[in-house]
Amino acid sequence: MSDPTSPSPYSENKRFEPKVPVELNPPKDDEITLEELAQNDGTNPERPTWVAIKGTVFDVSKNPAYKEKGQYHVFAGKDPSRGLALSSLKPEDCVPNWDDLDDKYKTVLDEWYSFFSKRYNIVGKVSMSKL
Ligand code: HEM
Repeated sequence: MSDPTSPSPYSENKRFEPKVPVELNPPKDDEITLEELAQNDGTNPERPTWVAIKGTVFDVSKNPAYKEKGQYHVFAGKDPSRGLALSSLKPEDCVPNWDDLDDKYKTVLDEWYSFFSKRYNIVGKVSMSKL
């Protein structure tokens, strides 16, 4: 039986916490072009693997799921915000545009943002001129 006096693991501050604590660096604010993002798509072992959500670029290199044969490779080297919001792995959905979506999808996207921000270092922002 769980102890009803202890905080629920689903209370807001604990949501999407990694099971093993992750040490994160302070977020960086570097401007990253879509071209540079695309080069870091997990296919080149010499380069990091990046995924952007709502223009914020996360370094997901430590997770093989984003590399070439990984199940979430479709997200790598892009801002796939729309696909994350819609729970879609279709390449045509893995694009940055999310603004026209219903609130329920925007909430899903914000939850993914929270999930990533608790696990992966922020390496910069996609340059707005190119988004
Ligand atoms: C049959 C369907 C699916 C199964 C069985 C599945 C299973 C999983 C599992 C087991 C994890 C690891 C959870 C953890 O680390 O705590 C995961 C993570 C994830 N899933 Fe899925 N998934 C499915 C579909 C999808 C779809 C449609 C999307 C599209 C948005 C998606 C996006 C993700 C993402 C972004 C992660 C986080 C990976 C990370 O740790 O960085 N999944 N999934």
